[in-house]
Amino acid sequence: MAGKTLKVMFIGDVIGTPGLNMIELWLKNFVRQYNVDFVICNGENAHHGKGMSLEALNQLLSSGVNVITGGNHTWSNFNFFETLKSHPQVLRPQNYPKGTYGRGYGIYRLPGSLGDIAVLNLQGRTFMYPIECPFRTADWVLKQVKDQVKYIFVDMHAEATAEKIALGWYLDGRVSAVIGTHTHAQTADERILPKGTAYCTDAGMTGPHASVIGMQTKTAIDRMLFQTPHKYECAADDVHFSGVVISLDTATGKAVAIRRIFYPEFERGEMD
Ligand SMILES: [Fe+2]
Repeated sequence: MAGKTLKVMFIGDVIGTPGLNMIELWLKNFVRQYNVDFVICNGENAHHGKGMSLEALNQLLSSGVNVITGGNHTWSNFNFFETLKSHPQVLRPQNYPKGTYGRGYGIYRLPGSLGDIAVLNLQGRTFMYPIECPFRTADWVLKQVKDQVKYIFVDMHAEATAEKIALGWYLDGRVSAVIGTHTHAQTADERILPKGTAYCTDAGMTGPHASVIGMQTKTAIDRMLFQTPHKYECAADDVHFSGVVISLDTATGKAVAIRRIFYPEFERGEMD
């Protein structure tokens, strides 16, 4: 049984205005319900469903989010580059080539006397851009931060389930949590790995679920039917809050519990 714990909430990919409003409406309730100390959120699609913006960033911060992670769509809104370069609470995947705008990890002050937490954003390479190795990049970042912090949170933004699971095992015992993003579908494989790392393949999507991963269904189906580009439009309906809460032992920084949050639950009918 753990002693005192630190509670970290991670919110899965926020989609456009529906996702931002959902966070504004519900985050404070979840923070109270789970005694959350620190909130991290993947925001790469917060700007109308693609990219980030200063307005989206401000809305997330004023809703109670402490750090915003990114991914391949971080680069989709050119107007955000100046903020990305300078704002310490916004991250993009660390394993982009040297010289890329922004930062991929940071050390942040926790409330009270809880110390500091490092947040690291990585991106997978399977079915994605051939950037630097996320595994070796994690090794390098851990070397930089391990003497400064007890808690290390990793957002692994990746397409392939196996790549995320492999990173979880690779970092087991060396970081507090490895949580995946990017697919927008929450996975039910949350667990504590043997050496004390909380793991979940994908935290899911905070946004409209009457959609294909946040896009209007007709556009998405037409893209698949005709194999041609169709204008991307963010969906609006059936908005859910999706993420995980992790409980970390303040003596060791290791995870003692992980819970998925998906609110409200999908309608699943009654089994007879
Ligand atoms: Fe992504």
